[in-house]
Amino acid sequence: MMTENREVQEVDLAGIRDHLCVDAFLQEMIPARALKTAFETGLVDHLVSNRICSVSSLENKWKNGEKAVRLLIDLLALNNVIANHHGEIELTPEFLHALKYRDLLELKLSMAHLAAFDLMNNFTEFIASPLNFMRKARFFKLFDYSLCFEDTPENRSLTKRWMMITSILTRYEAPACMACHDFGRYGRMLDIGGNSGEFALRICRRYPGMVSTVFDLPLVCDLGREHLQSEPESDRITFARGNALTDELPGGFDLITFKSMLHDWPQDQAERLISKAEKSLKPGGTLLIFERAPMEITRNTVPFSLFPFLIFLHSYRLPDFYERQLKKLGFEDIATRRIHLDMPFFLVEARKKMGS
Ligand SMILES: C[S@@+](CC[C@H](N)C(=O)[O-])C[C@H]1O[C@@H](n2cnc3c(N)ncnc32)[C@H](O)[C@@H]1O
Repeated sequence: MMTENREVQEVDLAGIRDHLCVDAFLQEMIPARALKTAFETGLVDHLVSNRICSVSSLENKWKNGEKAVRLLIDLLALNNVIANHHGEIELTPEFLHALKYRDLLELKLSMAHLAAFDLMNNFTEFIASPLNFMRKARFFKLFDYSLCFEDTPENRSLTKRWMMITSILTRYEAPACMACHDFGRYGRMLDIGGNSGEFALRICRRYPGMVSTVFDLPLVCDLGREHLQSEPESDRITFARGNALTDELPGGFDLITFKSMLHDWPQDQAERLISKAEKSLKPGGTLLIFERAPMEITRNTVPFSLFPFLIFLHSYRLPDFYERQLKKLGFEDIATRRIHLDMPFFLVEARKKMGS
């Protein structure tokens, strides 16, 4: 779909897609739900510690009847989480491998579960009345930016909850972005909407010469500072608290990034953010936009693992919207790369004119 209008480079990311193995266990809703139960009941941990366990011992332990235990075991076997050898079960090698990415696996399970609730209950509004859908959906209530201005115990705990989601996703998405662009040529970077600093951290860790500023809402910055405090790179990452739409942004950067940020905003505000970023960039500096693109439903099925991203259907844009805006602002060398991770992403890069 992204290639309909013009040429975009496709990037081969074979080496850094290993974490996507978790999606194999989230293809179908009910088997994935059974996996969530296996985590919740401690069965996964029990099998990690003891390697093997008998179905009869589970029946005795849970006292909920043979049928329920058998259903759980059958669903887990169907989902290739466990192998059942005549009543003795163990985790499969594929699932043990996916457990290397347990934070991502458990996160995707929880997110897909929440998104499924909204999609199943309100699918007609999802199609016919997106604004009503967004108002109703519990999923979007998680990301309440209005709570990020004042530091109260309640705001802190609610903000921490969704920052954990963005930080885990970014931990696994950042390597793909770094594989597509050489960050080694920059010294000072500004990440607008940079959240917990996770993206800046990944880049600073790879590039010891990089110094980074994360611009985000006040409470997000406070929590971001805590998120990074034990990292050796934290002395190269500064947080700037504010509202990127209304406050002045710091200046003098040779790289400015927007990662999964601009889709949150209607066109006019996304355009405002980009032109403010342009002013903060040194002449000759680079602006990067790394975003999810609309899903290509006609070519793929929609596995359960994609429900949390399908729910943003109305927000994701094609890269040409950003390219047009960058051209209007006088940027040069505008190039777009298409990156396939769990769904299509793109990276738009553009250089601010020298002497402007
Ligand atoms: C969808 S999250 C993406 C976070 C991060 N860049 C990532 O990729 O995980 C959007 C980020 O924009 C921040 N944000 C929202 N409104 C903002 C504003 N008016 N000014 C600055 N940051 C804002 C949010 O706090 C959040 O960190």
